[in-house]
Amino acid sequence: MRAARRLALLTLLAAALPAGAADFAPLLQERPGRFRPVRSSGGMVAGQEPRAAAVGAAMLAAGGNAVDAAVAASFAEAVTLPAAGNLGGGGFLLLWLPGPSPALGRGCLASGPRGATSPELAIGGGQAVAIDFRESAPAAATADQFLRPDGTVDRQRATRSPLSAGVPGSVAGLVLAQRCYGRLPLAQVIAPAIALAEQGLTVDPFLAESLADAAPLLAADPGARRSFLRAVPGGTPRALAAGEILRQPELAGSLRRIARSGHQGFYGGPTAAALAGLMRERGGRITGADLAAYRARLVRPLQITYRGHPVLAPPMPAGGLSLLQMLKLVEPFGPLPGGAGSAADLHPLAEAMALVFRDRNEQLGDLPEPEPVVRRLLDPLRLEALRRTIDPLRHRPSAELSAGPPRRSGGTNTTHLSVVDSRGGLVASTTSLNLAYGSGITVPGAGFLLNNTMDDFSAAPGTANAFGLIQGEANAIAPGRRPLSSMTPTLVFRPDGRPWLATGSPGGSRILTIVAQVLRNRLVHGMNLAGAVAAPRIHSQLWPDRLELEDGLSPDTADLLQQRGHRVTPASAMGAAHSVEWLGEGRGSLGMADPRRAAGLAQPEPAVLRPWPAAPSPP
Ligand code: DON
Repeated sequence: MRAARRLALLTLLAAALPAGAADFAPLLQERPGRFRPVRSSGGMVAGQEPRAAAVGAAMLAAGGNAVDAAVAASFAEAVTLPAAGNLGGGGFLLLWLPGPSPALGRGCLASGPRGATSPELAIGGGQAVAIDFRESAPAAATADQFLRPDGTVDRQRATRSPLSAGVPGSVAGLVLAQRCYGRLPLAQVIAPAIALAEQGLTVDPFLAESLADAAPLLAADPGARRSFLRAVPGGTPRALAAGEILRQPELAGSLRRIARSGHQGFYGGPTAAALAGLMRERGGRITGADLAAYRARLVRPLQITYRGHPVLAPPMPAGGLSLLQMLKLVEPFGPLPGGAGSAADLHPLAEAMALVFRDRNEQLGDLPEPEPVVRRLLDPLRLEALRRTIDPLRHRPSAELSAGPPRRSGGTNTTHLSVVDSRGGLVASTTSLNLAYGSGITVPGAGFLLNNTMDDFSAAPGTANAFGLIQGEANAIAPGRRPLSSMTPTLVFRPDGRPWLATGSPGGSRILTIVAQVLRNRLVHGMNLAGAVAAPRIHSQLWPDRLELEDGLSPDTADLLQQRGHRVTPASAMGAAHSVEWLGEGRGSLGMADPRRAAGLAQPEPAVLRPWPAAPSPP
């Protein structure tokens, strides 16, 4: 089936190994499972695309830290994974590094650490910080820009026109991360991406299939046609086939300008001029002034304690608040009789998902004063009151929770990277063009695709975006505002504060429920990292009022959930939660590439797959 094959995009775990590998010591909480993570005696990059992950691992091997590796892999994905890797999109990155902050001496923090008001959060003898490089609405954006005269939303304009693009944030975010927290020179970190773009890469079967799927979209845009398709004399342009070489000289030029001039090399000069020119010509609203004004932000991560573990996630407009709310809501429930995958365990989780999406839809956005909302939604008394509304035996229909028309959800492409270095430095980074290949529009002369993330705003009250999300006034389009996102790169620490786990996922609105389930599987059900990532998932988002089940859950579970009143529907694979864990000083790391988008695992030499420690023999 085509959809299934599409989900089989290459995934990679790449390990960078110092000499003298130390022995592996399993975590206390861990028990052997059916699946096993890849083990490295050094650091690890878990990502979507093998060549890009290998670039990240090479940075670790060259003495870079987790930030260098993540930034290098992200720039490389902008070349090797055009559906989602990007220069023309945005995202969120969450990092932890040991020791005093390198950002202090680099002019990144206004006046040094100021306790609770600093973007850095001190934990485990190091600093954690989130980077918000979400796209922003241009100054000329208006709340009604996707509406037809009759008030209905023009989906084409909202997703596939120059108006659908927000001001790109990825380059600002990656350059900021590198400048404030990296160890290697920016030029060294970008060099592999430049080489991949310039010398070209061999199209593998997964890229070939992805390009073929997107060919009609890409053919409609002159820039995209030139970058990604081949002319056929007298016929329609065709996608590159497996084995052919994809060269992206214009993209290489854009990358070179970033390597040379950093932030300014993208938000000023020829790249900015090319983007602003395209907008002028084709009725878009991003101007040179919007580009010049764009800044990525260092922001303080949100933090909760979940089953004894500090969990950090980025604040609004990222999805962290909803993730943390979901975890806290179900914290007292697990593990329920029947265990992982049982109806008893999944029912309250599904109910909690719907409650969280109600809050999200009604209250969240890029708010000028987010603190009161954060406090209210994480207030233990309010959470307890919400929890008490969950009937353990009965699904509460969405219409009882809120009014809203159901609408199909769909569309995929985003990419998540998790990185750990040999000192426990962690990065979780999720970046996106929104839908696959974004707006489908490539900036002529600059060679990169533009996002269609403006569709993440609520275009009109009561109407759904591409992910079926029906959102409110708090997420209306307004100049400079950043659209609410579900992306939530997440870090988990050991109970004593030491760094431990990095995860996150693509999947649109499902990102929130995917990450919550990976963490529950690991921390409640005691699965190892591989099992926690691979286990079948469910998803509910209030509207439509239905519970999506991946295959792998038992038909009995589906029946029992149906008996509780859920409208159960089968779903295709959800997301791709590439994750890593740090095992401790000198003990290396574990990684798991989500098999949903994994067609292979690759590691630089020497490989370090070791047998799993024997299961304890039964008493
Ligand atoms: O920010 C968001 O919530 C969406 N633009 C993410 C899109 C996505 O994950 C598509 N993926 N598979």
